[in-house]
Amino acid sequence: MSDQTQILHPTTGGIAQAALLLAAGQLVAFPTETVYGLGADARNGTAVAQIYAAKGRPSFNPLIVHLAHAAMARDYVIWSDHAQVLASAFWPGPLTLVLPLKTGHGLSSLVTAGLDTVALRVPAHPAAVALLEAFGGPVAAPSANPSGRISATTAAHVLTGLEGRIAAVLDDGPCAVGLESTIVGLSTDTPTLLRAGGLPVEALEAALGSALQTISSADVIAPGQLASHYAPRATVRLNATTPTPGEVMLGFGDVAGDLNLSLSGDLTEAASNLFDHLHQLDAMQRPIAVAPVPDHGLGRAINDRLRRAAAAR
Ligand code: TXA
Ligand code: MG
Repeated sequence: MSDQTQILHPTTGGIAQAALLLAAGQLVAFPTETVYGLGADARNGTAVAQIYAAKGRPSFNPLIVHLAHAAMARDYVIWSDHAQVLASAFWPGPLTLVLPLKTGHGLSSLVTAGLDTVALRVPAHPAAVALLEAFGGPVAAPSANPSGRISATTAAHVLTGLEGRIAAVLDDGPCAVGLESTIVGLSTDTPTLLRAGGLPVEALEAALGSALQTISSADVIAPGQLASHYAPRATVRLNATTPTPGEVMLGFGDVAGDLNLSLSGDLTEAASNLFDHLHQLDAMQRPIAVAPVPDHGLGRAINDRLRRAAAAR
């Protein structure tokens, strides 16, 4: 992680530098009209893992993928009539749509926390659009605040929480909305409000011509709750050093397995491999034994996810 956080401005040179850092797998905080986002290349699992490390997030919540243009959404998700209606009306803007992933999407599984859906947003902020265009790819970005703290709406807030932990912040003053985007789930036939936010529900319902289904906000914001949509079908045994007959083994470091989260014991690499490896082992349709993972840094989030996988039945 970087020791010094560069402060960039939305000039041609500043945008180009921010895009280069993203392309190099670095973290760049950038303004959107809602709040500042902490961006990483959404296709680069190691870069995405560093988001969790920088924020000190104790669990892997799925992240929003930011795109320069609405037309790019079709590269990643199965588009639908509802998506078309809402995107035409409100993108670019403070709206996030959750849609089913399409095959060959190329996003890191850490972005989606192993779910088969992804949250997409096309922001309207000129500096965000300029950065996304210059970078040319999908940018995963949660709000740019340390875990459990309030969202950042100025570059100064970002620096207070994350200075020295991220490569750069693109400073373009305060965010206009100051409240995160409204999130609508479109993975079923009934559009569902997953998070109230900067775009009023009334506006969404007027565009759809029908009421949004709601689920209790407690269900949505409980850490890792969404991730529990994906639990392996197989039983999961934690802190194993060798597999028992019939088990497949997920190794870490010196503890060998059919797959290894990180042979060198690197927690960033392990985080970026976690969901992919669980999916692959689950496909073998045998019980899964998992090597111990140290419970510090990103290891805390990895262990949180593993405990959920082991408990969920
Ligand atoms: O305004 C915003 O939305 C800001 C800016 C930076 O874009 N971003 C933001 O991200 O608020 P974050 O990570 O703080 O919140 C993302 C929310 C989480 O509540 C997460 O659970 C939900 O989006 N989410 C992400 N992917 C999802 C999915 N596949 N299904 C359901 N919810 C999802
Ligand atoms: Mg947040």
